[in-house]
Amino acid sequence: MKKLTFGSLIFAFCCGMISSAFSQPAPQPETTCFESRKGASEVIKRDLQPGWPNVKCSPLTGAVLWWGDPFDGTVPMGKMPLLDKIPPGHAVVKPRSEKIALMPMCGVACHNGVGPKFNPPKLPTSKKPTPIPTMAAMVPDLQNLQHGRERIWCLDCHHTTQRNKLVDNFGDPVSFDQPQLLCGKCHGDKMRDWRDGIHGKRIGEWASTGKKRWFTCTECHNPHNVQDGARNRGFIQIAPETPPQLPKGMKDAKHELLHGVAQH
Ligand code: HEC
Ligand code: HEC
Ligand code: HEC
Repeated sequence: MKKLTFGSLIFAFCCGMISSAFSQPAPQPETTCFESRKGASEVIKRDLQPGWPNVKCSPLTGAVLWWGDPFDGTVPMGKMPLLDKIPPGHAVVKPRSEKIALMPMCGVACHNGVGPKFNPPKLPTSKKPTPIPTMAAMVPDLQNLQHGRERIWCLDCHHTTQRNKLVDNFGDPVSFDQPQLLCGKCHGDKMRDWRDGIHGKRIGEWASTGKKRWFTCTECHNPHNVQDGARNRGFIQIAPETPPQLPKGMKDAKHELLHGVAQH
């Protein structure tokens, strides 16, 4: 008797599953698009309000073309020299930590402040390059570190004992959410341009003291491979969108290839 009840229970459960699979509408496939660096700045499309999406994505490239709310998912930028004229909370960024897959393990499970948990457990004694097969296997870009053309190494950027932190010039920890404080150690000119809104990208209010989201350096640049393979130059290019529609009545844009030089 007991057995039968159990069997019929399973039967009922299975029927329930099958019937609900038929009666419910198929779930919509999740649309994921990237904001700046493909594979490192993904955002899931959803409605902020009915009919008002958080992002519109390019069907061609999968890149975000429009933001429904430029401050969605942002946090205050944190202390940034010379940005103190902007009212508190008006300079915001999207945190990087939640995008970094290995983050929950870095400073806790693997490097607990004593050194790697394998034998012999010791911290590197210099910043000189040494092969790290375990890391290279997890993050392929570390196999042959491109950034700096062989003149910089892990601990120029990562904190020696706090592996879930980056490092500033004094050896103090810097949050992964403030990569500008790291990159600015060596690329001061770029950091200054970025702070002034000339390099990189900002979205939000137009007024100089208005609220803006700054895209952080690592949202665009892969810190381990800034030379971008064969291109050997600064930025992983993204596929271009199709050109805009021509104005009514214009057949092609060939005239744009001709530069009107005054004839005398
Ligand atoms: C130029 C500075 C720099 C150097 C040099 C550097 N890193 Fe990084 N690394 C970063 C930054 C910044 C991030 C965070 C990236 C992000 O926000 O997407 C990071 C992320 C990581 C991660 C997490 C990646 C993930 O996808 O989860 C690991 C692991 C790592 N670095 C290991 C290393 C090792 C090992 C070396 C040396 C072989 C090294 N890094 C060299 C700056 C650097
Ligand atoms: C410890 C110093 C150091 C730090 C920190 C550092 N870089 Fe670099 N970076 C270099 C060097 C050195 C080069 C190589 C320049 C060259 O020889 O072309 C370089 C090159 C680059 C290039 C390519 C430039 C080009 O013309 O090809 C980019 C982009 C770049 N870095 C971005 C970053 C970003 C983003 C960060 C922060 C995540 C960062 N860097 C942190 C030292 C550094
Ligand atoms: C919105 C995306 C974006 C952000 C954010 C961004 N960059 Fe860039 N960066 C670019 C592009 C695009 C280039 C042009 C690369 C090229 O010419 O191939 C570039 C070029 C560079 C170069 C190389 C310049 C050269 O002469 O070749 C460096 C160094 C650099 N960026 C550092 C930084 C630092 C440091 C930050 C943060 C303070 C930052 N970038 C933020 C997109 C960005």
